[in-house]
Amino acid sequence: MIDIIREDDKEKQYQSLYKQLQGLLEGEQNLIARLSNAASLIHHTFNHHWTGFYLVEDNELVVGPFQGPPACSRISKGKGVCGTSWERDESIVVDNVHEFDGHIACSALSNSEVVIPLHRNGEFVGLLDIDSTSFSAFDQTDRKELEKISTLLLS
Ligand code: SME
Repeated sequence: MIDIIREDDKEKQYQSLYKQLQGLLEGEQNLIARLSNAASLIHHTFNHHWTGFYLVEDNELVVGPFQGPPACSRISKGKGVCGTSWERDESIVVDNVHEFDGHIACSALSNSEVVIPLHRNGEFVGLLDIDSTSFSAFDQTDRKELEKISTLLLS
């Protein structure tokens, strides 16, 4: 059984999540299995609105394992926060998605978002996308810690 461990500050919460994730991923090489458990663990640890992955296929981002309400299936390069992260190949923290030019509103309830690229052998292969109903839910701690998780997932 895997219980969510609750910590009282965000850095500690991520440290504990990282350790749990290492345990969950150990011995499991299947990418969908790895991403599915990661989406669930991150989502339920922080009670986000939407937590999931988009993976590159035929030059589009296609939705992968996620937790939360149904989402857009496909996103083109340069479109929305996700497509922009892909185009720039960098993480993006958005305090207010309504002010992000071209933001794709999969859910009317989302107000802030963080997107973190996933790389395999240095190549962009997809991304981790998290949405919150709060404004400014994500900061540089989330960015740094989620980038570590993204590296772990593809290693
Ligand atoms: N808001 C994202 C689309 C994906 S959903 O949030 C799950 C974007 O603008 O790229």
